[in-house]
Amino acid sequence: MSRILGIESSCDETAVAMVEDRAGELVIEQNLIASQAALHATWGGVVPEVAARQHAQTLFPLLVEACIPQTGEGIDAIAVTNGPGLAPALRVGVEAAKALAWLWGKPIIPINHLEGHISSVFFGETVPAFPALVLIVSGGHTEWVYMTGFGDYTLLGSTRDDAAGEAFDKVAKLLGLGYPGGAALSKLAIEGNPEAIHFPRAMLKSGDLDVSFSGLKTAVSVFVAQHPHVSKADIAASFQAAVVDTLVAKTRAALKEREVLSLIVTGGVSANGPLRRAMSELAQTFNISLFLPELALTGDNAAMIAAAGALRWRKGEKDTSWQTIVASPSLTMT
Ligand code: KG4
Ligand code: ZN
Repeated sequence: MSRILGIESSCDETAVAMVEDRAGELVIEQNLIASQAALHATWGGVVPEVAARQHAQTLFPLLVEACIPQTGEGIDAIAVTNGPGLAPALRVGVEAAKALAWLWGKPIIPINHLEGHISSVFFGETVPAFPALVLIVSGGHTEWVYMTGFGDYTLLGSTRDDAAGEAFDKVAKLLGLGYPGGAALSKLAIEGNPEAIHFPRAMLKSGDLDVSFSGLKTAVSVFVAQHPHVSKADIAASFQAAVVDTLVAKTRAALKEREVLSLIVTGGVSANGPLRRAMSELAQTFNISLFLPELALTGDNAAMIAAAGALRWRKGEKDTSWQTIVASPSLTMT
């Protein structure tokens, strides 16, 4: 049994959470997120220095709101995202975690943000059996990972350019849906016809597990310029169908390559309805279990960071040499 405080500040959400490992079951006690989306919408994207200042302003009030005891009582360790992400933004969370660790005399568990997203499906009684195939689809990453246990990852494929979420955001911007526009685009797509326009599905025959979304984004941009009067809902639905088809095709190819017991789809884009449905059908075809995060845990949050911390704590991993922990924007999975 352990109680882990989670801190997340890698991009534009300031988040704190408390997760308890109760006899092998991860339970969320607190999960607070202060989104900066409205602040960054004025710039049309996340400005790292603006994000960092906002994190610095919000993080401690959020700890107070979450009723985190000032003495650190009842907390075993502090899990904090140390990469990948925006360097100035990450630094705020990491330095706050170090200050608390020093004050409380508690260890820090540095967490890779992507491992955090994976951990978002490890709450409750039913957790993935290994080996598992993981698809991380977020604003910054699109990666297929073969996972043989918690902490054991092999990267199978990834995007060669834009991440799936990034493509959603760029097309949403093009359609005048604001930033970040993935959720707004998928909402608009409900009213559209996914077969109205055939947008390209790149690299389906590349023979590997890599994808590319920049050509799709350009195709939509050219189409919009040439057909200013075509329904935006049809464009949104057709674009979304191209992304989902591509993700499903490569996931199918990965499942043919690797025999697994579970399929995990996680990250911000895993909130997407058509993607969730398509992955569910795919998992049924292969007769494996599908694990998707609860909708509230698809985007960036600290519960997933605390969960990753709890799972590392279970393995006996803790870092008492917190002096050496730095924000690490380029940290990648091994
Ligand atoms: O995981 P996340 O919160 O942040 C990163 O780690 O990048 O992912 C954010 C991404 C954004 O690109 C956002 O537009 C996208 O997830 N997203 C969606 C949906 N909800 C959020 N994309 C497609 N459909 C959605 N419903
Ligand atoms: Zn994320």
